[in-house]
Amino acid sequence: MLHLGAFGYVIKPLDQRDVVMNVASALERRKAMIIARDHQKLLEALVESRTAQIRHREEEVVLRLAWAAESHDKSTGDHVRRIGVQSGMLAEALGWESRRVDDIRVAAIMHDIGKIAIADGILLKTDRLTPQEFEVAKQHTEIGASILDASEIPLLQMAKEIALCHHEKWDGSGYPRGLAGEAIPESARIVAVVDVYDALTHARVYGPAIPEEEALAIMQAGREKHFDPRILDRFIELIPEIHRIRDSIAQRGRHRDDAEEETFTELEAIFPTHSFSRTESPLNRISRKEP
Ligand SMILES: [Fe+2]
Ligand SMILES: [Fe+2]
Repeated sequence: MLHLGAFGYVIKPLDQRDVVMNVASALERRKAMIIARDHQKLLEALVESRTAQIRHREEEVVLRLAWAAESHDKSTGDHVRRIGVQSGMLAEALGWESRRVDDIRVAAIMHDIGKIAIADGILLKTDRLTPQEFEVAKQHTEIGASILDASEIPLLQMAKEIALCHHEKWDGSGYPRGLAGEAIPESARIVAVVDVYDALTHARVYGPAIPEEEALAIMQAGREKHFDPRILDRFIELIPEIHRIRDSIAQRGRHRDDAEEETFTELEAIFPTHSFSRTESPLNRISRKEP
C-alpha cells in the first residue's frame, strides 16, 4: 500500500481524534510532496533555460571568431551560420543525441577557422589556383586542427575533427590525409555534404551560385565518391525543410533594419580596424579597412 501513496492506517473501531490526526498528517505530507515536485520542475526549467543561454553565447562567440578568421572573405558570415544550422539538422535526422546535435551546430561553424593563416591573395583569388597555391590553401585543415587541438571540451574536440577532416572524401581521394569511409569522423562527413551544397547554391568568391537542380545533380554524382551515401540521402530528404527555414530567416530579415543598425555600431566597436557595409546582407558586410 505504501507504494500507492498510503501514509498510515487507522484501527477499528474508529477513534474520531485518531482519524482527524491521521488525515491531517497525511494532508501535510501530501502538500510537502507537491511543493517538492513543483520545486524540482522549476529547477529543471531553470537549468534548461541557463543551458540554452550558454549555448547561445557559445554560438555567438564562435560565429564572431569564424567571422574574424575569414573576414577577408565577405561571403563567410551567412555561410558559416547556415553550415552550423544545417549540420545540426542533419545530425538530428541521423539520430544523434541532442547534446551532440547542439555541439555540431556550433563546431561546424569553425570548419574553416584555419583560413586565418592563409594569405588573402589565395583566399580571394577568383581564377583557378595554381597547384602550389592549392597546396597552401589545403593547409587550412591542419592549421584549423592545431588551433583547436588538445581541448578537454567535447565541443572543441568535435570542432577539431571537423576542421581537420571536412575535405576528406568517402572514396579516400580527399585531403589532408586521404582517409576513406568510416575512418572519416561522422561529424566531418556531415559538414562535407552541407558545405558543398551551400558553396554550390550560393555565390562565393570563387564562383556564382548555380541552380538547385544542377547542384543536386553534382552532389548525386559524388555519392559514394565524395560523400557518405547514407548521409547524402538523408540530407536530400531534408532540403524542403532547409528551404522553409531559409525563407523564414529571409522573411524575418526584412523586419530587422533597426536591430541591424545597432549590430553595426556594436561590431564597429569590436572590430575597429574593419568597416561594415550597410548595403549587403549582415554577416557578409565586414571588410578590412586599408591601413
Ligand atoms: Fe575548408
Ligand atoms: Fe565552408
